[in-house]
Amino acid sequence: MDGIQQALDTTCTRTRDMDRKNPLLLERGRGATFTDAEGRSYVDFTSCTGAAPLGMGHPRIVDAVTRHLADGGGILPGTMSRIRVDLALRLLDLFPHSERVAFMRTGSCATSAAVRLARAATGKNTVLTSGYHGWHDWQLQYQGDARQHAYDPRVHHFGYDADQLLALCREYADDLAAVVVSPEHDVMPTGHLEELISITHGFGGVAVLDEVMTGFRVGPGGLTARLDPRPDITVLSKGLANGTALSAVLLGPRVAGAHEATDLGNTYLRETTPFVVALESIDLLAEETARVHRTTASLGAGLNEVFSATGYPACAAWDDGILHLVFATGDLAGGFYRTMLDAGLFLGSGGTVLPGAGVTDDHVALAVRTARTLAEGTAATGHASPFETPDDALWQPFADFCADAFRATPSVADLWWTAKVAAQVKPAREKGALR
Ligand SMILES: Cc1ncc(COP(=O)(O)O)c(C=O)c1O
Repeated sequence: MDGIQQALDTTCTRTRDMDRKNPLLLERGRGATFTDAEGRSYVDFTSCTGAAPLGMGHPRIVDAVTRHLADGGGILPGTMSRIRVDLALRLLDLFPHSERVAFMRTGSCATSAAVRLARAATGKNTVLTSGYHGWHDWQLQYQGDARQHAYDPRVHHFGYDADQLLALCREYADDLAAVVVSPEHDVMPTGHLEELISITHGFGGVAVLDEVMTGFRVGPGGLTARLDPRPDITVLSKGLANGTALSAVLLGPRVAGAHEATDLGNTYLRETTPFVVALESIDLLAEETARVHRTTASLGAGLNEVFSATGYPACAAWDDGILHLVFATGDLAGGFYRTMLDAGLFLGSGGTVLPGAGVTDDHVALAVRTARTLAEGTAATGHASPFETPDDALWQPFADFCADAFRATPSVADLWWTAKVAAQVKPAREKGALR
């Protein structure tokens, strides 16, 4: 604990760096396994919060980076490197709606660049937004606290609610620059994103899809490639360069010209190593993504079966490598994540689980067994089963989770539950009821 106290005194905060509930001082990792400062070993089910879907220290990436560093140290005197162009061409192939790529370092920088570009393209200022986009000033609406000194009054949050978006578009029709949305792919039904993009286009706004989380997790071309209509700007980051700092803003025809009209200067585009990692990662992801999706699905199905069979009031929702866990109470959630951690399984603590390529079937089986032992013990203490009641007793916890995790309104949570999530929970309930 001394190490943790020292970390807190010198460099960390309790809310951010200790992942709120998991007090681990991390030492090193490889694949999906990492150790803490006391030598305990864990399996990471978060892909380093989505940043490294191929796991830590992937041998092909380590090789490519080692060769690249030996060959010149990974830095050049200017931003216009051959490898930057190579990666831009690769991304334009993968995301065919786009014509230009602006590279940045982080997701926050890239979503801010998207807003700057949309404002430059339209000559307007109002931004309507749903979901998390980072920590910059215009993104503070997500915190819902207008008292924060950096709060940007030209930005309004609409909680994924199409009616609210429509009302705000009407209110700010003369000044609408952009609508920026982070998809919550595993819980959002097909069609919801398209509806939000159509409304945006109807009012002349620039549709920005924040695919920082989804872009390299759901498959080639991210969600953007599946949508009709498509967004005007797609933002990528996590998974793009498997844990090294790189992000990209992909500009479609309506906004490509704005790139010249605004300044997105960035010293560290001279650092070439993340581009090497990105080119290697894109190839590797083509080989690994289907397996990551299968791992995620078997974890989700296994957990839902345990929850239904034991009456443990929780459920899993998943799609394409992204999984969310919802618990009836915060105490149950805390107990679940602590129990997992004690068994050497790191699932974070906020409800988002993102297994990476290094997570094996054995790791999943251990997670499901650990959940079963916990749930059987907890069920014995008399929790009511959500699966025995005719109503979806997990609806309210799901709505609370959506409000807390995504700032989604109750009616949006209702739509997501009814149109997508309940279908994954109910088969487990029916199966569980037969036991
Ligand atoms: C959807 C989304 N957008 C933006 C960000 C911000 O990215 P970063 O933390 O790299 O600034 C995140 C980070 O979690 C994210 O999930």
